[in-house]
Amino acid sequence: MLQRVVVTGVAGFVGSNLAKHLLQNGYSVVGLDNLSTGTPENVDHRVEFHEADICAREIYPLFEGAEAVFHLAAKTSLVDCLNSPLEAATMNVVGTLNVLEAARKSKVRKFIYADTSAEYEGIFDFPTTEDRVRPIGVYAASKHGGATFCESYRNLYDMRVSVVRYFNVYGPAQDWRRVIPPVMSSFIIRMLRGERPIIYGTGEKRRDFIYVDDVNDLHLIILEDDRSAGRILNVGSGINFSVYEIYGLVEEILKTGLQPLYKPDLPGEAQVTLSDLTAAKSLGWKPKVDIREGLRRTVEYLRGRALRGEQRVVGA
Ligand SMILES: NC(=O)c1ccc[n+]([C@@H]2O[C@H](COP(=O)([O-])OP(=O)(O)OC[C@H]3O[C@@H](n4cnc5c(N)ncnc54)[C@H](O)[C@@H]3O)[C@@H](O)[C@H]2O)c1
Repeated sequence: MLQRVVVTGVAGFVGSNLAKHLLQNGYSVVGLDNLSTGTPENVDHRVEFHEADICAREIYPLFEGAEAVFHLAAKTSLVDCLNSPLEAATMNVVGTLNVLEAARKSKVRKFIYADTSAEYEGIFDFPTTEDRVRPIGVYAASKHGGATFCESYRNLYDMRVSVVRYFNVYGPAQDWRRVIPPVMSSFIIRMLRGERPIIYGTGEKRRDFIYVDDVNDLHLIILEDDRSAGRILNVGSGINFSVYEIYGLVEEILKTGLQPLYKPDLPGEAQVTLSDLTAAKSLGWKPKVDIREGLRRTVEYLRGRALRGEQRVVGA
């Protein structure tokens, strides 16, 4: 029988890509999502999909017989979290705790938590290692709360918990319909529509970007290699680019001639992120997709979707 893996947030960006990767590698996938920002079109038809909220107790039976849980569902928009901190805490802290409880009650052995490099907002040592965090913004604080409960369950119960600290993940299915979408999708979509890309701040902020397939390679290693138990692992590329440089790379592909528009910076965001990858590499993982190739694939995806008129605006 195929091993069952639960993926929360399966209709979102990373979760939908992860589900496809697990299916390709011979797992069966039970996917949960409340579709607050994710869309059903993202979910592979082979996923056993349940429209459900991670805060609800009704989700418990869905975890029975599962080998592992990837907990990705979260309130992920920084602006939404800043505007609705109680909701951010409900989804990202209480929701995580409820998913941990669901996993514990069904005796699921492996739990993988999607953490964030925003945990390092107040740390200024680069490249950044996993050993210290200093979350500042509401999103970071709420994800930190979820991670703290993961650590607690790892200590209290016989659970193999791994924490993956994503830097800026990009690629197909990233939510480009938000009012302020993640930077790459935002640039690509506007430029494909002939609109000037918007830069928040000066464009000098530097980000460590990692292509979603590389992240999922690490997810599979974590699932299959017991050495990942109890580990916190950065997942980035170990290289960073300024927002302006990203604009330049997108322009290199699209050749629009459009110049960026500048708007005031968003509060609380780190100026620089850069991952130290020693821990993840010790498990035999390394990023494979370089930024030009990753951007080219993302452009192809968005060209197909966005220009087919899917212009629903969701979230902030
Ligand atoms: N994408 C990145 O660059 C990045 C970076 C760092 C961390 N992360 C973390 O990775 C995870 C996945 O991120 P993503 O980029 O795929 O985000 P996403 O917003 O595309 O996906 C999140 C999904 O969770 C669902 N969801 C939200 N609240 C829910 C609830 N209460 N119950 C059920 N489902 C709910 C949404 O509908 C959405 O489909 C998140 O935990 C995020 O914090 C992502």
